[in-house]
Amino acid sequence: MCGIVGFVSEKEENAGKILFDGLRKLEYRGYDSAGIAVISGDSINLEKEIGTLDDFEAAVDVDELNGKIGISHTRWATHGGVTKLNAHPHVSQDGNIAIVHNGIIENYQELKNDLKGVKFISETDTEVIVALMQKEIDGGNDFFEAFKKVLNKIEGSYAILAINARQPGVMLAAKNESPLILGKALGKMFAASDSMPLLMHTSEVIYLEDGEIAKLMAKSFEVFDLKGNKIAKTISKIETHIESSEKGMYAHFMLKEIMEQPNSLKRSLQQPYGDVEEFAKAISQARGVMLIACGTALHAAIAGQYLLDRIAQKHVNVINASEFSYLQTSLQKNSLVIAISQSGETADVINALKKIKQKGAKVYSIVNVEGSSIARMSDKTIGIKAGPEIGVASTKAFTSQLSILYQIAFALIGKLEEGRKEMDKLSGLARLCLDMNLDKTKALAEKLANKRDIYFIGRGINYPIALEGALKTKEISYLHAEGMAAGELKHGTLALVEKGTPVIAINPNDFVHAETLSNAIETKARGAFVIAISDKNNPVYDELLSIPGASEEFYPILGIIPLQLLAYQLAVVRGKNPDKPRNLAKSVTVK
Ligand code: G6P
Repeated sequence: MCGIVGFVSEKEENAGKILFDGLRKLEYRGYDSAGIAVISGDSINLEKEIGTLDDFEAAVDVDELNGKIGISHTRWATHGGVTKLNAHPHVSQDGNIAIVHNGIIENYQELKNDLKGVKFISETDTEVIVALMQKEIDGGNDFFEAFKKVLNKIEGSYAILAINARQPGVMLAAKNESPLILGKALGKMFAASDSMPLLMHTSEVIYLEDGEIAKLMAKSFEVFDLKGNKIAKTISKIETHIESSEKGMYAHFMLKEIMEQPNSLKRSLQQPYGDVEEFAKAISQARGVMLIACGTALHAAIAGQYLLDRIAQKHVNVINASEFSYLQTSLQKNSLVIAISQSGETADVINALKKIKQKGAKVYSIVNVEGSSIARMSDKTIGIKAGPEIGVASTKAFTSQLSILYQIAFALIGKLEEGRKEMDKLSGLARLCLDMNLDKTKALAEKLANKRDIYFIGRGINYPIALEGALKTKEISYLHAEGMAAGELKHGTLALVEKGTPVIAINPNDFVHAETLSNAIETKARGAFVIAISDKNNPVYDELLSIPGASEEFYPILGIIPLQLLAYQLAVVRGKNPDKPRNLAKSVTVK
C-alpha cells in the first residue's frame, strides 16, 4: 500500500523521468494518486495528481523536472480521501522539506495537538511528520537530528523518505514495518519500496531493517539506529531480469502472468533438494505445524493441507494470518509455522511471525520475493522463483506455491526425485490447458458478464480451488462470487440458486468426482447454469472448461488455470482493468 521511490545523484538528472519510471514499477502498490518532489535550485518543485500514473503522465511533463535529488509516491489511501491535497509528497509550511510515507502513523492525532499554530492542508497522518520536522529544524536541529527526533516521537508503521531544499545533497530514509530497500549505483543512491525500481539502475541493494535510519548521499550512505548509533550494513546482489517485469505483447500483466505459468512451474522445480528436504524434516520433527497466509496464498495453504494429508498422511493446521493472534496460545517452542506469501511483505503475516518468534517457535517461509521481510525473518525460506508478479490478482505465484507444497509432500515420503519427475510434465500440461481455454473462457465470459452472482464448488483439494476461483472473479470483475465446499451448498447457499444462476463445479476425474457431480445435479434441478472444470464431460454440464487428464493429485494446478482465465476475461468484458482492481493493492503492508 503506497509505493515510494527516491534518489540522490552527483549530477543533474532528468529526475522526474527517473522517479516516474520507478513509480511505474510500484504502481501495483497503489494507484489512486501520485506525486513527485524534486529539488531544483534552492526550492522544491512539487507535482501531484489524482488518478493512476497514466493520469499523472497526461497532466505533468516529467521531462521538465530536473534535479540531483527527488522523491515520489504512488498512493493507496488510508487516512484522508483521494484528493490532490492528500496525495504525497507532503511539504512543510516553509516549503523546504518534502516527505513521502508508506504506512500509518497511529499517534498522529495526539502529535497534531502539540503542533498548535500549524495550518494543516491535508487530512493525512503524514503531514504531521513534515510539520514536526520543520518544528525541530526551526528549533535549531540539523536535518538528520530533526528526522531522528521525529522518528522517536511517531508510532506506527512507516517507510519514509525526506529531502530538504536547504541541504540538497542528502536524502533521509527510515523504516518500521513497511518495506524499504536502498540501492547503490555509480554516483547515485536510491531508495524504494521494493527492488523493482532499483533494478533499472543497479543490482546492489541494502536491506533496511525496522528502526534503522539511512543517510543517503550520491556516493555514500550511512545507517544508524534510532539513538543515532552507526550500524554496519552489507550490500547484497539481486538478480531479476528487468524485462520480466514488462508487459510485453500482452494487454495486461495479469494475462501475461497467467500465460507464463508453463515456465514458472518449471522454475519452481529448480530448488536445491536439500532445501525441500529440510522443510520436510522440520515438518516431521515439529510438535505441531501451522501454515499461515492471506488471500491467494491462504488458498495455496489450504490446498497444502489437503495434499500433505493425502500424499504424506501429515496433518497441518491452516490459519488466516489476520486471525492468528486469536489462536496462538497453543504454540510452543517446538511448533513449526510456515508462512506463504508472494510479496513477503504482507503486514498481517509479518505481525503474526513476530509473535511466533517471541514464543520461540520455528518460522519457515515460502515466498516469491527473495530478500523480502518475511524471507529475512524466517529460519529457513524457499523462493518459489515465479519471477515478478505485477497484476494485483495473484496467478502464477499460486501455482508455484502449490508446486513447492507438492515437493515438500513428496520429500516427506522420501520420493522427492520421483515426484519431481512427474511434476516435470505439468509445464506442458499447463500450456495445453491455456490453449484449450483462452478463447473458450472469452466466449463464456460474454455469457456471464451480466449475471449477479457466481458460485464455485469443489470437494477435497478442489475446495481451495473453488475459493481461489471465486476470489479471482470478485476481485477483478466485481461480480459477486462465492467459493465453497460442494457439500456445504445444501446448508444454505442452495437457497440462492435459481433459474440461470451460474454454478462452476471444479470436478476433475478424481476420487470425489461422483460426489461433486451429485451436487452439481442438485443445483441444476433448481435451474442453475452449470459449468464444469474437468477432464471428463457429463450431459448435466451446460458448459465445460476442459483440463488435460493428469495424475490425480496434480489436478489443482491445472484446475485453477481456466478459472484465472475466466476471471480475467470477465473483467475485460465488463470494462474493468484486471491489473488495477478498485480499492485493492498487491502488497498489503498495513493491518
Ligand atoms: C493482497 C493481494 C492478493 C494476495 C494477498 C496476500 O490482498 O491483492 O493477491 O494474495 O495480498 O499477499 P502475499 O504477498 O502475502 O501473498
